[in-house]
Amino acid sequence: MADLDTIVNLCKRRGFVFASSDIYGGLASTWDYGPYGVELKRNVKDQWWRSMVQLRDDVVGIDAAILMHPRVWEASGHLETFTDPLVDCVHCKHRFRADQPDELDTKCPSNKGGHSFTDARNFNLMFKTFLGPVEDDANAVYLRPETAQGIFVNFPGVQVTSRRKVPFGIAQIGKSFRNEITPGRFTFRTREFEQMEMEYFCKADEADRWYRYWLDERTSWYRGLGMRMENLRLRDHDAEELSHYSTKTADIEYAFPWGWGELEGIAHRGDYDLTRHQEYSGKDMSYFDQPNNDRFVPHVIEPAAGADRTTLAFLMDAYDEEEVRGDKRVVLRLDPALAPVKCAVLPLSKNADLVPIAKKLADSLRPFAMIDFDVTGAIGKRYRRQDEIGTPFCVTVDFDTLDDDAVTIRERDTMEQQRIPIGQVAHGLMQRLGAPAV
Ligand code: GAP
Repeated sequence: MADLDTIVNLCKRRGFVFASSDIYGGLASTWDYGPYGVELKRNVKDQWWRSMVQLRDDVVGIDAAILMHPRVWEASGHLETFTDPLVDCVHCKHRFRADQPDELDTKCPSNKGGHSFTDARNFNLMFKTFLGPVEDDANAVYLRPETAQGIFVNFPGVQVTSRRKVPFGIAQIGKSFRNEITPGRFTFRTREFEQMEMEYFCKADEADRWYRYWLDERTSWYRGLGMRMENLRLRDHDAEELSHYSTKTADIEYAFPWGWGELEGIAHRGDYDLTRHQEYSGKDMSYFDQPNNDRFVPHVIEPAAGADRTTLAFLMDAYDEEEVRGDKRVVLRLDPALAPVKCAVLPLSKNADLVPIAKKLADSLRPFAMIDFDVTGAIGKRYRRQDEIGTPFCVTVDFDTLDDDAVTIRERDTMEQQRIPIGQVAHGLMQRLGAPAV
């Protein structure tokens, strides 16, 4: 597997991810997605939405506001318990999480004898800001640290308007913010990130079954998009590791170069959130099961994934290097559904007869898939550029095209080439991508 530096360099060189505000020296651990990165991350989110919402009859989506009523965070327990234990080194003044032994064991840059830590104190991870022009506590609000609460507070409205019966789920993708003490490892741990969360509301006595169901379902999602089995594992949380709301949690972890890291947590949240919101808002958060004449507060199973971490893991998993005719070939073996560009159209040269044909072909394919058009450099170099960003297919318009009205389609992984009539490219491409034929 590639090390992190290799991936960071590729991301920068090829426009996947840039340091944020780079012209001002960057802002610690904040990243901007460039043209290929934004496509890759969108594809990850689209695949999640497709599998969690579009292909299911029992899950609906929402898009809630980032700023919520401050009482939400009292009810959810975040104001009180969403903290990390923090220690300072008295020599180098750096801050560390007291619960991360690997961070505490690092060398102190100011003291040969190692770090000397202050006593641990709790630090709340929520970003606080103020609504309106007056900066006093009466106007304090928080940037949401999870998208989940936007789902819980909307439970009654969504249930009634969507006419869904328990069991059913509400899904959401959106930004979350945490003032992490030690962000780092590229996009793995940042202070601003995107989550893909779903709350599945069910009866208490069915919650364990749904918990196991979602563990399987979510693991299969990563596998179905090509993530290697040996790089994935499920890990149950110990009792002391459980979040304040959870009775049972397992993480789906990925074998990052620095060790196993969480991609997604699947938590049994019981009826904690709805009950707390009922208590704090005074609103009824229960569900009426008409056929059984039974009113109850549903229990919740929550698969909660990070879009940025998952994108990074797919990038790392897809990265490959091989030798081709004495040269190193870097290739991202991304599943075509995730690849930022699905097909590159390449005129063999800048010849005035070839370029318009290639341009016309590229334009005809754009309604169906993300297309790159590249005319500069030797054809071999252009193939390598597309390999490096994971483009599954390249179509080359050459001088024979002028006579036979055919083009060469090249497959990324095998590098095999096939000649097909230009009129069949759209159809052939859609078939190869697994999309409906046009
Ligand atoms: N609603 C439950 C919840 O937020 P979590 O395990 O804290 O659970 C879910 O977060 C996912 O969000 C994580 O598995 C991870 O992928 C992502 N995530 C959490 N904190 C993150 C951070 N600081 N940077 C990037 N991703 C993060």
